[in-house]
Amino acid sequence: MKQIVTIDGPSGSGKGTIAQLLARNLGWHFLDSGALYRLLGLAAERRGLASTQTAPLAALARSLRVEFVGERVFLDGEDVSGAIRTEQAGNAASKVAAVAEVRAALLEWQRACARDPGLVADGRDMGSVVFPDAPLKVFLTAEPEERARRRYKQLKEKGIDVNLADLVEEIRERDERDRNRPVAPLKPPDGALELDSTGLSVDEVFDRVLKAVRQAFPGLVV
Ligand code: C5P
Repeated sequence: MKQIVTIDGPSGSGKGTIAQLLARNLGWHFLDSGALYRLLGLAAERRGLASTQTAPLAALARSLRVEFVGERVFLDGEDVSGAIRTEQAGNAASKVAAVAEVRAALLEWQRACARDPGLVADGRDMGSVVFPDAPLKVFLTAEPEERARRRYKQLKEKGIDVNLADLVEEIRERDERDRNRPVAPLKPPDGALELDSTGLSVDEVFDRVLKAVRQAFPGLVV
């Protein structure tokens, strides 16, 4: 399966919005790899596992009972769609995501999502590690303050109470951990289209991505 677009970038860069829009437009599958790490972070917290307990964490990653039903996510049969979207779950995710054994355990699961007619994969290492042969790799960034403002708006809309200053701090902390970890650090993959979305609307970013899609997949009508 060669029709893959990867969209990587830091939290709040807009990659989730753009990746979902693109998948819907193309009629392709969508992989929200961050949701997997969030689920695992949540499951680990509930079991009282620390990020240093690598073997039990990897075992948990392999045995995770996850179901995606439309927009909703279930963990061990419980609807955790809201619980995985909090900043606490994001932070728990970034801690378990730094464990090499955990990443290895989730690799095949993610690769199995590449099915016809195509896949749009959203994450941190989609282009660099999981789908290194993807014909189009996008790396989306934005200034940290703008990313914090976007996350603030998103969380407020979901009814989650947050403080903007705390969010800026949490985003910085999470970026730092994601960028500096030894395995699959957050960085633009080779050959990626790098887009800074600071000050751009969703439509403007999406237009640029679509242009790149047309170039990468000349036979595709979009
Ligand atoms: O994208 P999202 O904010 O949902 O990701 C939550 C955390 O999961 C990230 O901060 C990152 O540490 C981790 N993650 C990752 N690799 C991915 C996707 C997410 O390490 N492909």
